[in-house]
Amino acid sequence: MEDADDGRSVGSGARPMGAKEFQQLSEFIQNECGIKLPPAKKTMLEARLQKRLRVLGFHSFGEYCSYLFSSTGLEAELTELLNVVTTNTTHFFREPKHFDVLGAEVLAAWSARTGNRREFRAWSAGCSTGEEPYTLAMVLLAHQETSPGFRFSVTATDISTRVLQQAVRGVYSEDKVEDLPQAIMRKHFMRSKDRTRRLVKVAPEVRNRVVFQRLNFMEEFRLEGEPMDVVFCRNVLIYFERATQEAIVAKLCRHLRPGGWLFIGHSESLTGMRLPLHLHSPTIYQRRRETGEETS
Ligand SMILES: C[S@@+](CC[C@H](N)C(=O)[O-])C[C@H]1O[C@@H](n2cnc3c(N)ncnc32)[C@H](O)[C@@H]1O
Repeated sequence: MEDADDGRSVGSGARPMGAKEFQQLSEFIQNECGIKLPPAKKTMLEARLQKRLRVLGFHSFGEYCSYLFSSTGLEAELTELLNVVTTNTTHFFREPKHFDVLGAEVLAAWSARTGNRREFRAWSAGCSTGEEPYTLAMVLLAHQETSPGFRFSVTATDISTRVLQQAVRGVYSEDKVEDLPQAIMRKHFMRSKDRTRRLVKVAPEVRNRVVFQRLNFMEEFRLEGEPMDVVFCRNVLIYFERATQEAIVAKLCRHLRPGGWLFIGHSESLTGMRLPLHLHSPTIYQRRRETGEETS
């Protein structure tokens, strides 16, 4: 009788989530962070929220909803809820072609055009546990070695405070780096002294180049400083409805310098959206000066 669940507390284990609670929670989640949870995601949401119910001592999702939608509960629980619902899969040098294009094409052209007279600014938007912005920093450091005077900064943002805490630490299990070339490993990672822990830490020269901050795409946000030269917003849009995707990318474009580059995930597309971008190659866009034209 899952759908008839009235949300009252029973016994020690949490009762299945009712249709009403799923609807309340999924609408709330979509409003707060844009993530769309179709009915097929009910089991996933239920499983992920079980731990929160245990921590809070609730026996039903009805109790959890009453708490969440009270003014005190909302303040205390919103961050926790968003930490639970976001999907944070990522890895170093994910979708490596993007980093090839950045290293071989974007940076070479940028340095030739600007003479490295200003700072190159990169943004990892939806950075998860840090692998993407640290990869960006590694590629930018490699360019610095061959391009005298090249200076850069990497800003990395995410809605989830849980992943941001992990990202700032820069500590990963060894299996997250096992496919990386030895040269990258030697240069940019430190192994744990206690070898039984099987952990690596991103070297300080890389860690110190990335500034992390919490940012929710659904809110009006402003990033400090000059516009970005490159924005990586990959495997984030996929969780949003098309209208939300378009609104978010329009916001990203406001922080992107004309001529600047936007990289999206390999399964994402902006085709047909009214954005000030033109397509360079699949999943790679450049900002143009005119606004309001369709992306092709
Ligand atoms: C699958 S990860 C992608 C990580 C990385 N960009 C990559 O491609 O490997 C998606 C990230 O988007 C973040 N996210 C989801 N909704 C968001 C929102 N409304 N504002 C900012 N970040 C959000 C999630 O917390 C998650 O860490």
